[in-house]
Amino acid sequence: SKQSQLAIGLDGIAVAETDLSLVDGLEGLLVYRGYWARDLAIHHTFEEVAHLLWYGHLPSEEELTALKNKLKENRELPEHVKGLLRMIPADVDMMSVLRTGVSALGSSAHGWPPTIDEVIAVTAKMPTIVAFRYACLQGREPLAPKFELDHTANYLYMLKGTEPSHAHVRALDAYLILTQEHGMNASTFTGRVVTSTESDLISAITGAIGTLKGPLHGGAPSEVTEMIEAIGTKENAEPWLRNKLENGGRLMGFGHRVYKTIDPRATALRVVAEQLSGDDPWFDLATHVEQVGLRLLAEYKPGRKLNTNVEFFAAAVMRAVGLDDDLFTPSFAVSRVVGWSAHILEQAASNRIIRPQSNYIGSMPE
Ligand code: CMC
Repeated sequence: SKQSQLAIGLDGIAVAETDLSLVDGLEGLLVYRGYWARDLAIHHTFEEVAHLLWYGHLPSEEELTALKNKLKENRELPEHVKGLLRMIPADVDMMSVLRTGVSALGSSAHGWPPTIDEVIAVTAKMPTIVAFRYACLQGREPLAPKFELDHTANYLYMLKGTEPSHAHVRALDAYLILTQEHGMNASTFTGRVVTSTESDLISAITGAIGTLKGPLHGGAPSEVTEMIEAIGTKENAEPWLRNKLENGGRLMGFGHRVYKTIDPRATALRVVAEQLSGDDPWFDLATHVEQVGLRLLAEYKPGRKLNTNVEFFAAAVMRAVGLDDDLFTPSFAVSRVVGWSAHILEQAASNRIIRPQSNYIGSMPE
């Protein structure tokens, strides 16, 4: 019988045309709708860049106010979702809780095609879900969202219980902007596959969260801090990393399917992390681990062009603004929901069901 060409991991296969972002892995470039992601992270805010991705242009002052207000009005969680977040056993990880919380937002009101109002509503609620659950785990009453605060500031406020400093808001905003969108990554692809069946937005986002959770994708940053914790001292970096590679292990925060040069998001976040960290010994150790890691990867995996990826410095930035490890990947989701939903809207606008093939290599009936 006829066999199709195999593309394990869909490496190098394009499955859509998009005007959302360019990820150039050879030159190390990242563009969101005609703007350098790096420049957007420095000069713009979470809401402005979300507007760019959803509506196709940076907002005017009125458009920005309108979007901010819509996000603010949608932050509160329905009572049944709050009840669910309180009920889930304490040992369930935060990504599973986020996946369940978002899934519980779905209803028969979510139909086809997905709308931008639905997109805004789920983007507004994701930080509240994470912060609500985090407060429950800490044994304190969850804080209501604060209307005066913008998206990122309100997220930090709900997590920590105090109004965050301007420096922390800017740093987290830079991270959340740099990870909003990234082409056809695994979780975005998941969202598009779900959407391609004419299923609803909440189902697509729920699937994407499950995909982001894995350590090869969004689960890496907490593993970066675990690695640095386990290494402990500069002297231990080389023997620890060498041992890991000798045993065929992967160094978290290094390598990327597309980037064969430095990840431009890592370059941008390194600056943010440096500014925040000052002479923090943790950051000093992390940069040492980076250098030794790069040297050993060149030795053990010559020619593979493995570099530091976004997760390495994402971990440093989130740690510096005072987020615990278990908030790293959920915060990535709070950001990436913007890109997921922009792709979901794009998929819906010119949909064809995504339905690849597999080649049967089993036996035939006698
Ligand atoms: N440590 C050690 N070896 C590695 C690493 C690493 N971090 N990454 C790739 N390699 C090796 C891999 O073993 C393979 O070696 P060989 O040719 O001997 O088989 C070679 O490099 C090519 O790797 P690959 O598995 O074909 O690469 P991939 O495109 O399938 O995987 C990746 C990409 C990101 C899953 C992988 O680099 C990895 O596992 N990195 C560590 C986890 C991580 O940091 N993930 C975050 C990615 S960035 C943001 C995001 O996507 O969320």
